[in-house]
Amino acid sequence: MTARKIIIDTDPGQDDAFAILLALASPELTVLGICAVAGNVPLPLTEKNTRIICELAGKPQTRVFSGCDRPLKRPLVTAEHVHGKTGLDGPALPEPTMPLESQHAVDFIIDTLRREPAHSVTLCPLGPLTNIAAAFLKAPDVVGRVQQIVLMGGAYFEVGNITPAAEFNIYVDPDAADVVFKSGVNLVVMPLDVTHKVLTTRKRVEAFRAMGTEVGRMAAEWADFFERFDMEKYGSEGAPLHDPTVIAYLLKPELFKGRHINVEIETTSELTMGMTVADWWGVTGRPANALFVGSVDADGFFALLTERLARL
Ligand code: BDR
Ligand code: CA
Repeated sequence: MTARKIIIDTDPGQDDAFAILLALASPELTVLGICAVAGNVPLPLTEKNTRIICELAGKPQTRVFSGCDRPLKRPLVTAEHVHGKTGLDGPALPEPTMPLESQHAVDFIIDTLRREPAHSVTLCPLGPLTNIAAAFLKAPDVVGRVQQIVLMGGAYFEVGNITPAAEFNIYVDPDAADVVFKSGVNLVVMPLDVTHKVLTTRKRVEAFRAMGTEVGRMAAEWADFFERFDMEKYGSEGAPLHDPTVIAYLLKPELFKGRHINVEIETTSELTMGMTVADWWGVTGRPANALFVGSVDADGFFALLTERLARL
């Protein structure tokens, strides 16, 4: 089996941390690089957090790149109210010692897509789509070389989490999302409709802690911190673990079900800015541009995640 080559684009974020750990623990994937973007917290923190996570995984040789420090056209909106001041609040965090690559993340994405054979690299965005869109705008020749984009963002039935109409990643940079959704690249979308079904229940969090490893302890403490916000907001029995659904889809697509539909991004009305207008019921006749996922085998997802994190 040849490992699938991926680039992760991320704004850690406790749930981003789970996604990165899952990818680094999985031999089916080769992580060519991890690009940090401004999102949950500002860029200096997301690039630092990415290196903390790689070191926690025991993979300090992973290449980490710093990308865009703000959305394409709008001021940056962050989410410290969810993720805490550091973006990775919960356990005490070590200072990372592994280096940051000197190349800009956008140039790394472009160079990698030009160097690797066409359709051999999958992009995995876990935050605002700024780096990906910036690469597509700067080097339109690379768009047709992408194998697939599997991203976390948007919502249809769950509508919004940062505004009544919009999910955070798309809301922060709707103009970038618009570029990506119009790019013609094979797109798989993990919206809130699916991520709100993978909740960090007590039993699942205790399974992380019971690993008895540093990764298990950090994962449990991140989940403990992260869930207080969603439990208060939604009255749910845990927090949605949004971003690792992207990596889980690459490993076990059979855990997920969705529809090939048309999805457009709201970029003009302030009231509904960043809304993913998803034609779930096929009422527009507009051509499908994404596999929009709606359901997941949550127990299967957590079994995979737990088994893989235990390998680190
Ligand atoms: C998304 O926003 C961030 O807060 C999470 O890391 C996730 O990527 C969920 O709306
Ligand atoms: Ca994220």
